[in-house]
Amino acid sequence: MAKLPPPVLIQIRIPMAQFGTVFCDHLAIARFKDGGWGDAAIEPLAPLPMHPASHVFHYASTCFEGFKAYRWQDGKARIFRLHDHVARMQRSAKSLHLPIPDPDLLTGMVEDLVRKQIDDIPEPPSSLYLRPTLIGTLPNIGAAAAPSTEATLFVLASPVGDYFAGGARPLKLLVADTYARSTEQLGSTKTGGNYAAALGPTLDAKEKYGVDQVLFCPGGDVQETGAANFLLISDDEVITKPLDTSFLHGMTRASILALAKDLGYRVNERDFTVQELLEWVATYEAALSGTAATLTPVGTLVYDEREIPVRDGGAGPNTEKLRKALQSIQYGDAPDVHGWLTEVSQ
Ligand code: COI
Repeated sequence: MAKLPPPVLIQIRIPMAQFGTVFCDHLAIARFKDGGWGDAAIEPLAPLPMHPASHVFHYASTCFEGFKAYRWQDGKARIFRLHDHVARMQRSAKSLHLPIPDPDLLTGMVEDLVRKQIDDIPEPPSSLYLRPTLIGTLPNIGAAAAPSTEATLFVLASPVGDYFAGGARPLKLLVADTYARSTEQLGSTKTGGNYAAALGPTLDAKEKYGVDQVLFCPGGDVQETGAANFLLISDDEVITKPLDTSFLHGMTRASILALAKDLGYRVNERDFTVQELLEWVATYEAALSGTAATLTPVGTLVYDEREIPVRDGGAGPNTEKLRKALQSIQYGDAPDVHGWLTEVSQ
């Protein structure tokens, strides 16, 4: 029999809808009541009936996670750092005194939802964004100083492309030394209130300076932006703030630091000031890391009414190299030496 030539694969990049606006037609859901979690179910996506006195509406008892599943050429899905995200959600729930999701329950909910929606996962570089969310549902408007003893845990699935409009173009950040990213108590908790706190300063800065994000640097201490962690990168070093309770402990941050070590970079987790930052960006690249942001270059800082380019204002080669190292694992082009992927098939 004549041998056919191998098929020519042409990757066409179809523009995706705006990040987070399109949803799969099912969600995973479980409820906590009378001291225990009920069974999880996969249900058609529909509005949730909620008592208007629910704790979450009044006292912000809510936390969430964000991570991605990728569809490989073998037709199976791979979820990136599922178990680490589940563990972070448990820490967030604990800090908000919400019922802590059982890890097997939440892991199973995510896997079942990915299996159900596997055909909706777009090809890399797009992916399926997964959004587990935990809310306090106790109907009690007197419970400002009491925890919600009832809760709903659900997982949304959303096919996504780039988070920042315009793709991986270098971003512009306002360096703000007046506001903190969050509070000492909640900085490392992935709770909606932290994003609410960043919203006003971010909208003001967008309008006034045309920036993409605000880099929160209270008293000159460089923390993170509203949507991502912040890194400085040279040919042989990555500098980023060490973990403390003032900011979110990003899984992409941790992954980039691990890959940077693998590639021979020195990883320097240290506090640094705005003044140091402004000097260093003459030679260091700057980047934002996050599940949604992946590793996005920063091209310009705005500080004290001045625009300061990061190196030449373009995307740097080391940022590109580290992003590729991460994406190669996520897309199945490099071995998963750290054991970060969870396989799901139909
Ligand atoms: C993520 O990167 O997954 C986040 O949760 C940040 C959010 C602003 C999209």
